[in-house]
Amino acid sequence: MKPEVFFAPLVRGMFIEKTGGPWTVAYESGALAGTGAPAGADATAGAGGATDFTAGIDTSNEKIAAGQLSSAFAASGFAGENKIPLRVKITSGGNGYVYLTAPDYAGIDCIRKGRQKTAWDIPEKSPGTADFGASRAAVVKNRAALITGGAQGFGEEIVRGLAAAGALVFIADLNKTGAEKLAAALNREYGRTLAFPVEVNVADETSVQNMAETIALTTGGLDLCVSNAGVLRAASILEQDIGSFRFVTDINYTAFAIVTKHCGLLMKAQHAAAPSWAADIIQINSKSGLDGSNKNGSYAGSKFGSIGLVQSFAKELVEYSIKVNAVCPGNFFDGPLWSDPEKGLFVQYLNAGKVPGAKTIADVKAFYESKVPMGRGCTGPDVIRAVLYLVEQLYETGQALPVTGGQVMLS
Ligand SMILES: NC(=O)c1ccc[n+]([C@@H]2O[C@H](COP(=O)([O-])OP(=O)(O)OC[C@H]3O[C@@H](n4cnc5c(N)ncnc54)[C@H](O)[C@@H]3O)[C@@H](O)[C@H]2O)c1
Repeated sequence: MKPEVFFAPLVRGMFIEKTGGPWTVAYESGALAGTGAPAGADATAGAGGATDFTAGIDTSNEKIAAGQLSSAFAASGFAGENKIPLRVKITSGGNGYVYLTAPDYAGIDCIRKGRQKTAWDIPEKSPGTADFGASRAAVVKNRAALITGGAQGFGEEIVRGLAAAGALVFIADLNKTGAEKLAAALNREYGRTLAFPVEVNVADETSVQNMAETIALTTGGLDLCVSNAGVLRAASILEQDIGSFRFVTDINYTAFAIVTKHCGLLMKAQHAAAPSWAADIIQINSKSGLDGSNKNGSYAGSKFGSIGLVQSFAKELVEYSIKVNAVCPGNFFDGPLWSDPEKGLFVQYLNAGKVPGAKTIADVKAFYESKVPMGRGCTGPDVIRAVLYLVEQLYETGQALPVTGGQVMLS
């Protein structure tokens, strides 16, 4: 592992542990070369500049390294001052690794522009503390969140919801242009940097590993991973070509494991320095993960199987305070999967005569809505409420939470 990736979650975890709230730790690549102090830095503890960890840090074991960093910080003088430095520099193997630190990404931008000259005061009440439901959105404020498949559909809804709640969002998608456009639109809308596009193919482990490294270098760590990217190829098992069956299994099932592995490693490293901090992995599953789906076995099987992964990963990762849960939404009729005017499921079902007597798209939609006790499809806000609940709820893991308007009920 690259040293700059190894150190990032440890530095972030150290400040999370000290303050009880999320911190942004951005690797400053421009200051990497050599061991000299970065421009404007002041290695004197208590000033606004860098805390310099020149002691050798063990890069073979994250727990030992976290302890060494924490001791070096305690000795720096900042510890007694209730302040967090603007910069941290770690010297290891003859190189200096410099990170900028701030309570949010806007603070990182301020340091880069030279507007923040003194160390950060630690806020009295840590941002992100749950407020007993009065303001559930507060639980993700300033936290780092990843949403795979975030460029459109449910993923885009979750990205927008988390951004509105004040989270930093990594929009990770195969559709690079879509992710870039959405990130630019959000950064414009909020007037600050809070969204980062990342090109990824979740089924390719190298690509996912690169994504996790990008996250480590941008925010220092990760608090919430929403594994949302998914595909559907409906077909009878008597007719489906097995390549298409495998494709669905690869993206919906195996890729969830790949994403959990690499985000889990990043969260585990952060936990080595912040043992009291909880992180979340949430898979966007489906009502078809709880109830079989006619002529859609590849999809339902991949979603049922993923709930087995959720339960197993939850039992394993609880050791690192990582909760693993699934949200199982009902049909998102207003999203592109159903409503795309050319290839959406409504058009496909109308043309295939799947709904007896249906003459228009509205007829097909009404047929499917009538299957839901609450009479409508699932929406982005329905799913976001479930995501925020799972983050806020510290005493639950390994669950599959239906959000189906009563269409699927747990027994
Ligand atoms: N739409 C629904 O009615 C519905 C209902 C229940 C559950 N879900 C689940 O919600 C999730 C999102 O579904 P949606 O309907 O919003 O999908 P969508 O097709 O509208 O969007 C999926 C996004 O994932 C991206 N993506 C696809 N393959 C990828 C890959 N290999 N790597 C990275 N990104 C990839 C796409 O580019 C796209 O941006 C899926 O897991 C799906 O199973 C959807």
